[in-house]
Amino acid sequence: MNIILMRKMYLLSCLLALLLLPLSHQEEHRKLLLVSFDGFRWDYVNRVPTPNFRALMEEGVQVERVENTYITKTFPNHYTLVTGLHAESHGIVANEMYDPVLNRSFSMDGPEVYDSRWWEEAVPLWVTNQMAGHRSGAAMWPGSDVSIGGVYPSRYMTYNASISFNMRVEKLISWFSEPEEINFGMLYWEEPDESGHNLGPESPLMDVVIEDIDLKLGFLRDKLKKAGLYDKINLIVTSDHGMTQLSRDKVIELDAYVSRDLYTMIDKSPVVGILPKEGKFHEVYNMLENANPNMVVYKKENIPKYFHYTHNVRILPIIIEVKEGWTIVQNKTGSFMLGNHGYDNYLPSMHPVFVARGPSFRTGYIKNSMRSVDLYPLMCRVLGIQALPNNGSLMSVKDLLVETFTPRLVPPSKPTEPSYAWAVGTVLGSGLVLGFLITFVKKLTQRQLPSLPLTNREISQPLLREELRL
Ligand SMILES: *[C@@H]1O[C@H](CO)[C@@H](O)[C@H](O)[C@H]1NC(C)=O
Ligand SMILES: *[C@@H]1O[C@H](CO)[C@@H](O)[C@H](O)[C@H]1NC(C)=O
Ligand SMILES: *[C@@H]1O[C@H](CO)[C@@H](O)[C@H](O)[C@H]1NC(C)=O
Ligand SMILES: *[C@@H]1O[C@H](CO)[C@@H](O)[C@H](O)[C@H]1NC(C)=O
Ligand SMILES: [Zn+2]
Repeated sequence: MNIILMRKMYLLSCLLALLLLPLSHQEEHRKLLLVSFDGFRWDYVNRVPTPNFRALMEEGVQVERVENTYITKTFPNHYTLVTGLHAESHGIVANEMYDPVLNRSFSMDGPEVYDSRWWEEAVPLWVTNQMAGHRSGAAMWPGSDVSIGGVYPSRYMTYNASISFNMRVEKLISWFSEPEEINFGMLYWEEPDESGHNLGPESPLMDVVIEDIDLKLGFLRDKLKKAGLYDKINLIVTSDHGMTQLSRDKVIELDAYVSRDLYTMIDKSPVVGILPKEGKFHEVYNMLENANPNMVVYKKENIPKYFHYTHNVRILPIIIEVKEGWTIVQNKTGSFMLGNHGYDNYLPSMHPVFVARGPSFRTGYIKNSMRSVDLYPLMCRVLGIQALPNNGSLMSVKDLLVETFTPRLVPPSKPTEPSYAWAVGTVLGSGLVLGFLITFVKKLTQRQLPSLPLTNREISQPLLREELRL
């Protein structure tokens, strides 16, 4: 085929695309539902048949491993997912914390959860989405029932573990469906974390738990389909962390090394913070430093840079991390768990699952790895809102998106004043292109060239994509 003809066809497709793109499913790219199944390790999907996870992978994208953030616990990682910040920067540095400036303690199970000051070192995505003029809805996402900067999600549920998964789903779907619809939803479910702790991830009984999560995902898919949302919504299914097997033979008792009178222990195994009593720092540190080969004792300033876990007053003067599979306690009284998480975020066992599908995502695409901090800029892109400063990188995860649209392509629209120029331009432009197209097709048929649609697809699409990325 000659060059001039190719150029003409290319131009033609560009023109057509420019005219049609803003009119196509632009708005529908903007709906997003983020789902977290607490403690769903990345490889659980390979262990038993999980047809609903499989379907999402085939219809969308899968990231085999997500490197989450240190410490690999529930509250820090859920806040990372919605802020793109490491724990030291968003301030939820553990499930249980002590803030020496506030002189207050925080426990994820306590009423302090509702004290805004713990959360306000960052602004979560649901707030930013609302600031951009949209509406957010949250079903039990950690922190989503707390006033942050004076803002609650447009729709939310006060945390109550007894509310069933199905009820949470039905609420979310109603919020997506009401006249003043939300465009961003978050759904949290406590399993398979709870069973993972109780049974240990290696227990065959976990198979049933994982199958049940897949059924729950199936319920969600079904409800989305029935509400006519399934093909309009971008659905991300992920988790905060994985889970590893523990052993009763691998328990470190701090009481064997240092008297409780000298320090306060904050948070639970496998990473604990040690707050030495006034003037006791060196004594405590020296007693712990080489006490046990299965634990590492860090002075705050010596915590490795790659953990991004230093620059916050809530990170205590001494941190103890135990080796994978080990448990640290003061003494052995109390219950023993068979599974746990919280360890080094580099360990594969700590990594969560990640699948996503919807109009913004590619189809049948598998990516090896990403960092959980990268999810925030990705979600901002999908929602079409400006990301706040964060520790993620859109460039690292942009390949998950189809990117058949970019906000820059759409002429700036002012919702209050309809743009007549744009409307007139569209009509005139369409007419022109249509005329051109008819003449063109006539010429083509005269020359007996291969069919237009096929040639069009082959030639114009790759170029068009390049063009749109400008
Ligand atoms: C911190 O709070 C406790 C009570 O919770 C109080 O006894 C203590 O004096 C406070 N410390 C400072 C430095 O204010
Ligand atoms: C939590 O939900 C259950 C089941 O709906 C209900 O019976 C209970 O009263 C709720 N608890 C609180 C504190 O609202
Ligand atoms: C272990 O600690 C508990 C308090 O947490 C205490 O009541 C108990 O006496 C301790 N047991 C031993 C054997 O020291
Ligand atoms: C993470 O992002 C915050 C906000 O931009 C910034 O203050 C912090 O230095 C970043 N951390 C790293 C490790 O780059
Ligand atoms: Zn847990």
